[in-house]
Amino acid sequence: MELEKALPALLLVLSGLAFSTAVPAQAAAEAKPKASAPAQAPGQGTRYSEEGADTCLACHGDDAGVARIFKTKHANRGDKRTPFAGLQCEACHGPGAKHADGGDTSAINSLKDSSWVPVQDRNKVCLGCHQGNARMGWHGSAHDAIACASCHKIHAERDPVLAKATQPDTCYQCHKQQRADFQKPSAHPVRFGKLACSDCHSPHGSNAPAMLVKPTVNQTCFTCHAEKRGPFLWEHAPVAENCTLCHSAHGSPRPSLLTKTPPLLCQQCHTVAGHPAVARTGAALPANGGVGAGFVLAGSCTNCHSQVHGSNHPSGVKLMR
Ligand code: HEC
Ligand code: HEC
Ligand code: HEC
Ligand code: HEC
Ligand code: HEC
Ligand code: HEC
Ligand code: HEC
Ligand code: HEC
Ligand code: HEC
Ligand code: HEC
Repeated sequence: MELEKALPALLLVLSGLAFSTAVPAQAAAEAKPKASAPAQAPGQGTRYSEEGADTCLACHGDDAGVARIFKTKHANRGDKRTPFAGLQCEACHGPGAKHADGGDTSAINSLKDSSWVPVQDRNKVCLGCHQGNARMGWHGSAHDAIACASCHKIHAERDPVLAKATQPDTCYQCHKQQRADFQKPSAHPVRFGKLACSDCHSPHGSNAPAMLVKPTVNQTCFTCHAEKRGPFLWEHAPVAENCTLCHSAHGSPRPSLLTKTPPLLCQQCHTVAGHPAVARTGAALPANGGVGAGFVLAGSCTNCHSQVHGSNHPSGVKLMR
């Protein structure tokens, strides 16, 4: 056990040493070894292949699935930052000379979920070039235990997770409940490709709850529903506090994404006993004399209190106009 744990660390050290001698001269010039070279598969060794991608393509060249990488930004050799301007295939898969000797799969970091290499070390490969900007919040985020490659298809001409229409299917692989939510009668039109999970969530982590793109739920909603922001002359306190007090963010069996149907929705916070103005509005008094039932019969609280998000009408204090 102890030895198994120590071995990758040992290889790390070795690879650091071997790097300067075994790497092709051109590649070494362009891709400086990172301070923390990625860990490797147990039998991987430390030697890079002699001819870079050409070595690999001798066997993998006929595999259309592999070759599609040449249609991606990673293969842009004119951009010095890309893998193909440096160690090429081995910039991601690690030293591959030993594997290239005979195709031993235990001698290559496949970067797949079935890989020998722990997730954190697989991700280091990518983070070595992509630590900045959006990935600042990665470590400590809810996703930092999953692999970059669980979402990103690197050998695809178009990475499905980057397109609105195909992104949700990637997320649903792990988030089954959300798939069900977005099928409900009232739902944000994610199903129709009109908005994506990443319009509301930062998949690489953020400081907000639920990795939202903005610091709060409401600020996230306002990016598209600006008219609900106000300021209103007559505010409705829960609206300013948190939209999800009344709405499901994803989907609901009730109209308008509501968490409950009025009057129940409203009665979570407002008691109907003592509701005023029955006579003035002409609402029928219930036969049993109970006040609340009258308003239930009147249909819905929002029939009268239609400005439930707030009102700018001078006499809108009761949110009725
Ligand atoms: C002598 C032929 C040969 C050469 C050269 C070769 N491979 Fe492979 N490779 C194979 C075979 C065989 C397999 C296993 C079957 C398959 O997945 O296609 C394989 C599998 C792989 C896998 C998947 C491993 C897994 O666990 O599923 C990766 C990644 C890979 N090769 C990368 C490379 C890279 C990078 C190079 C160049 C450094 C390279 N190969 C050179 C024959 C070769
Ligand atoms: C930018 C990083 C990156 C580069 C560069 C790269 N790969 Fe990969 N490769 C991956 C990842 C990640 C996977 C895991 C599966 C996936 O996401 O498609 C993978 C998977 C593979 C597989 C396994 C495919 C399978 O479905 O079993 C092979 C074989 C492979 N790569 C070969 C190559 C060869 C050959 C090259 C160079 C021409 C190369 N890769 C360059 C990241 C890379
Ligand atoms: C050697 C550096 C390097 C490595 C290693 C690397 N990338 Fe990249 N990646 C780049 C560069 C450079 C770009 C192009 C950026 C641009 O155009 O602004 C890029 C682009 C991307 C993009 C955007 C693609 C698009 O079409 O817009 C994604 C997603 C990505 N990389 C994910 C990964 C993942 C996941 C890994 C690890 C399996 C990885 N990268 C490994 C350098 C690298
Ligand atoms: C939960 C799924 C998921 C995981 C895991 C994930 N990404 Fe992404 N990534 C996305 C989505 C969705 C986008 C496009 C939306 C966006 O830009 O926020 C994206 C965009 C990118 C881009 C291109 C745009 C940009 O921000 O530069 C890069 C590069 C990238 N990811 C790298 C990575 C790396 C590196 C990792 C692993 C440390 C990783 N991703 C893990 C879902 C994911
Ligand atoms: C490989 C599995 C996997 C994939 C794919 C995946 N996630 Fe996750 N996600 C997780 C895990 C694990 C957690 C943390 C545990 C949990 O809350 O279920 C998580 C948590 C989350 C959370 C809650 C964060 C929090 O702080 O409560 C959000 C939001 C999220 N994921 C969005 C997405 C989006 C958007 C995508 C697609 C771009 C996606 N996920 C793809 C595994 C995945
Ligand atoms: C319109 C904005 C929006 C969209 C689009 C969206 N989410 Fe969310 N999501 C939220 C909000 C807001 C929360 C926090 C809910 C709360 O606090 O009650 C959340 C919470 C989550 C959570 C944490 C668990 C939970 O349900 O509270 C996961 C996981 C998640 N979303 C995944 C996804 C996935 C996957 C997609 C795309 C298929 C997606 N979301 C699309 C706004 C959105
Ligand atoms: C990226 C843009 C975007 C964001 C962010 C967003 N929405 Fe929406 N919202 C939409 C779109 C598009 C529709 C559908 C409008 C239509 O069908 O005419 C919609 C519809 C709605 C509806 C009406 C649903 C129905 O069935 O009638 C409600 C309620 C709603 N959103 C609440 C929210 C809440 C709460 C948030 C924050 C958690 C939020 N939205 C964030 C774009 C967004
Ligand atoms: C006190 C409960 C409550 C809160 C909090 C609330 N809403 Fe609503 N919302 C409703 C009700 C009730 C409806 C249905 C209105 C109707 O049937 O006339 C609705 C409808 C909507 C609609 C669709 C119809 C329209 O008016 O455009 C959107 C969009 C919406 N809300 C967004 C939001 C946003 C964004 C927030 C947070 C800033 C929010 N709501 C907070 C109760 C609430
Ligand atoms: C999460 C709790 C909550 C929910 C749900 C809620 N409200 Fe309120 N509502 C409040 C609070 C808090 C106030 C401010 C009370 C105050 O200032 O005394 C308020 C104020 C009001 C007022 C104005 C009262 C006044 O004296 O000016 C009306 C009318 C109202 N709500 C109607 C509704 C209706 C209709 C619904 C359902 C669509 C609803 N509320 C749902 C918490 C809620
Ligand atoms: C038939 C129209 C009507 C219906 C239906 C109705 N209300 Fe009212 N509501 C009123 C009127 C009128 C007032 C008092 C206006 C005033 O005093 O100026 C009022 C006042 C209120 C107030 C403020 C109480 C106060 O002490 O000033 C709240 C809170 C309220 N309603 C909530 C609700 C809730 C919750 C429902 C649904 C269970 C509901 N209303 C249904 C007409 C209605």
